[in-house]
Amino acid sequence: MMARREIFRGFTNMLRGVRMHSGGIARKQFAKIEESDISTFRKLLGEKSVITNDDSLEFHNNDWMKQYRGNSKVVLKPKSTEEVSSILKHCNARKLAVVPQGGNTGLVGGSVPVFDEVVLSLSSMNKVLSLDEYSGVVECEAGCILQNLEEHLAKHGFVVPLDLGSRGSCQLGGNVSTNAGGLRLIRFGSLRASVLGIEAVMADGTVLDSLKTLRKDNTGYDIKQLFIVPRKLESVHLAMLGCNNFQQVLEAVAAAKFKLAEIVSAIEFFDQQCSDLVVRNLPGMSHVLETSSPFWVLVETTGSEDSHDSDKLYNFLNYCMEKQVVEGGTVAEGGTQMRKLWGMRENIPMALLKEEEVFKYDLSVPTSEMYNLVEIVRERLKERYPQAGVFGYGHLGDGNLHLNVTCPTADKEAVESILEPFVYEWTAEKRGSISAEHGIGQMKISKLYLSKPPELIALMRQIKGVFDPNGILNPYKVLLDE
Ligand code: MLT
Ligand code: ZN
Repeated sequence: MMARREIFRGFTNMLRGVRMHSGGIARKQFAKIEESDISTFRKLLGEKSVITNDDSLEFHNNDWMKQYRGNSKVVLKPKSTEEVSSILKHCNARKLAVVPQGGNTGLVGGSVPVFDEVVLSLSSMNKVLSLDEYSGVVECEAGCILQNLEEHLAKHGFVVPLDLGSRGSCQLGGNVSTNAGGLRLIRFGSLRASVLGIEAVMADGTVLDSLKTLRKDNTGYDIKQLFIVPRKLESVHLAMLGCNNFQQVLEAVAAAKFKLAEIVSAIEFFDQQCSDLVVRNLPGMSHVLETSSPFWVLVETTGSEDSHDSDKLYNFLNYCMEKQVVEGGTVAEGGTQMRKLWGMRENIPMALLKEEEVFKYDLSVPTSEMYNLVEIVRERLKERYPQAGVFGYGHLGDGNLHLNVTCPTADKEAVESILEPFVYEWTAEKRGSISAEHGIGQMKISKLYLSKPPELIALMRQIKGVFDPNGILNPYKVLLDE
């Protein structure tokens, strides 16, 4: 399904070796695009919305990590639901495969074609349509860039209940369809729960209007989804704490949840290897503090009463010092310092991209076990591949570990064989998830069974078939062929 617009409620506040995307997958019996299809699209959308020149196709055929590359010959940029519907009607009748695409910032190859699928880009449907300041319901189009929505809402004293490092490029449709996690899930919960309704187009072009803004509607299956946006609260504090070991990190998280309770808006962590990498690989970045520390924990609070929140934060910090949970740290004074502290965490993915090769794992594991895996992987690689880098960071408050491993291109295959399937199997043994927030895409398609029993996978197939009987929408992703 193609999400067209979302409504929110309560608002505030590099070219390396290209991974074999098809991994031996054969192109299915979809039709091939012909000149007559291009003419039809031009008639339906107008000349400018049908892109066929190689330079412009380049962006849409490559994923953000430059790991997956498709070979689409046409990108379509509809400007309305009706245009999306007319495209899908044509493609379904012709059996042309289609890949819907938002900001193309995904990390698992889900947003790019695998072969020659038609790219249906939502980037021209980028408007914020309405904001009800009493109920906090916002309605926007699927191609609306997250940062643009944030800026629009901030003017009215609201925020989007979602924040991601890729906010400058990612789009709401992609955020909703992938149920994006991000930096403040601990505060706002899963994005899905904030969506009140969507207008969607099925594979055959049928428009589903579920764009309601009601909080309660028990009239059948809850197909509607929509964002709920919270009020922008003015009192924001941010502390960065240094810990000597992961046990201290765990105690700091427990203390933050206990002592700060309802005002916690983010608890993130990264190891010293991450901050060294950011400083090494990104010009203009420097360490926040002169002292180094094996682990850094970012604790952000957001509330409505500055002196109350600040008292709470200092109480928490004193408690941590007394209990010897943290060794040191800093509290950001003002926006510039806050951006510097957040910059260290948010720039880790960018710094990793500058390495020759990077393997990314996005795992949900019990918080107490989170860093064990990083250490085990480091140990496994240490002797044979001393140039490999092993980095741990992530959404500590949500038990979401981002384990990233870098290595020189010459060692790529050997390192990969040590990592996989070990990392995924270790995670499955802990009853974790092999994809906490990045999704399955192309990257983890063969590993889905480690997080979902066969009965549920079969049900997923059936559900997909209801909306897309010909299988034209985003084929070769998430579900392996039977
Ligand atoms: C993050 O938390 O920074 C994102 O999920 C991106 C990443 O891990 O690469
Ligand atoms: Zn993340």
